[in-house]
Amino acid sequence: MVAWTRRRFLQAGAAGLGAGLGTGLVPPLMPLSAASAGAVREFTLVAQPGRAPVVGAPHPETAVWTYNGAFPGPLLRARQGETLRVNFVNRLPDPSTIHWHGIRLPNAMDGVPGLTQPPVPPGGEFRYEFRLPDAGTYWYHPHLDSSRQLGRGLYGALIVDEAAPPAFDRDVVWVLSDFVLGADASIAGGFGNMFDAAHAGRIGNTVMINGRVPAEVTLRPGERVRLRLVNAANARIFRLRFGRLPATLLALDGHPVEPVSAGEGVVLGPGMRADLLLEAGADGERHTVVDDYYRGRAYRLVDLAVAGASPIARAQGAPPRLPDNPLAEPVPEGAERLKLVMGGGAMSPGMREAMRAGAAWTINGKAQTGHAAGGHAGHAHAPMYRLRLGRSYVFEVHNDTRWPHPLHIHGVAFRVLSMNGRPLAQRPWRDTVLLEPEMRAEIAFVADNPGDWMIHCHILEHQEAGLMTSMRIE
Ligand code: C2O
Ligand code: CU
Repeated sequence: MVAWTRRRFLQAGAAGLGAGLGTGLVPPLMPLSAASAGAVREFTLVAQPGRAPVVGAPHPETAVWTYNGAFPGPLLRARQGETLRVNFVNRLPDPSTIHWHGIRLPNAMDGVPGLTQPPVPPGGEFRYEFRLPDAGTYWYHPHLDSSRQLGRGLYGALIVDEAAPPAFDRDVVWVLSDFVLGADASIAGGFGNMFDAAHAGRIGNTVMINGRVPAEVTLRPGERVRLRLVNAANARIFRLRFGRLPATLLALDGHPVEPVSAGEGVVLGPGMRADLLLEAGADGERHTVVDDYYRGRAYRLVDLAVAGASPIARAQGAPPRLPDNPLAEPVPEGAERLKLVMGGGAMSPGMREAMRAGAAWTINGKAQTGHAAGGHAGHAHAPMYRLRLGRSYVFEVHNDTRWPHPLHIHGVAFRVLSMNGRPLAQRPWRDTVLLEPEMRAEIAFVADNPGDWMIHCHILEHQEAGLMTSMRIE
């Protein structure tokens, strides 16, 4: 390790661990040092086993996998246009990589073993370095043995600040996830079992905010909070409702939308993010945040209590429209149309035979399992789609199964044009689109980022059991 590593490790600590990625709302983040566009922001991430007080006393701590000893990993923060450099050190007993979910980066930095880099072996290192073209809320996680590695806690948030961020009283990150915990608060085994793989995936029995079973969260009277939600769970889909607390949707998967009330609930499949504006009312108000995505299984996620002194109001007026990211606008008319049909899963024909072969799911009839089996770029993944650099494409996605799937595409952001044939008013930019059973969606993007890019369901047990493919942009 070179000399700056220790210093950079501490810097990462100051931005994430020290600032208290603890229960509930994260305290104000460290202000960015004045940095010119094009500056390099450098961190070291050491993947290593550790312990975390997930449930809290009197329950024992939980053995987890961490970055820099922290669960979730440190919050990485940089400014749009800067270069992020991360020195990754693998001190796990298994090979790993880091994928930068949602970041439009050069292919060689995408962290996909067998496609963009060899796996980083135990004791190995890899330097990731890329420019951050888009502002917004992103996250990072391994892309190898994902069900087990994320299922033990390897993930963290990556925030890219706008060049001139709109004013909020506080900027808060909630990394949402869950664990399957036993009575002794240890993570249960059973990763990779075919039952989870063929059904809804590994859904935990313990939901966490920033790695802790949440306690009550305090908002100050009248304060306006930018709440950044990241769904880092293996399989759980959330629909968060904020009760009577005014909540406005500002961005999806990092990319701004026209501000719209989040009163219908904020749906987040695994991998997805949302930025909200929360507007606290008067002293003494209480609000319960409920997750009611799964029918008949609604539960209280956390209570928000409005109390204390008002902040010096920095944020006022109508909800801010965040500045657009520099995305190339696809031209759907006349674009080449490609089909992506997801098949398989429990209750589909032919399942028994497929499951015996370790595959429960298919894309266009093909199951791709064995991520990184070859170890070097090119072997494990022959691309299903070949796209010409600079052209517009429309994918017609069809979920021909009885299960919901959050479909994620690397390397690009796409507009969601329609759901079930109904055009969307906002046509939001996303990197992950949630398709309910039997649903169809049209998505469009410009193939402006050359390389081999993964396309997969972000329910990690589905991904590993076949719901994965790739496209080549050349
Ligand atoms: Cu969040 Cu292919 O990953
Ligand atoms: Cu899926």
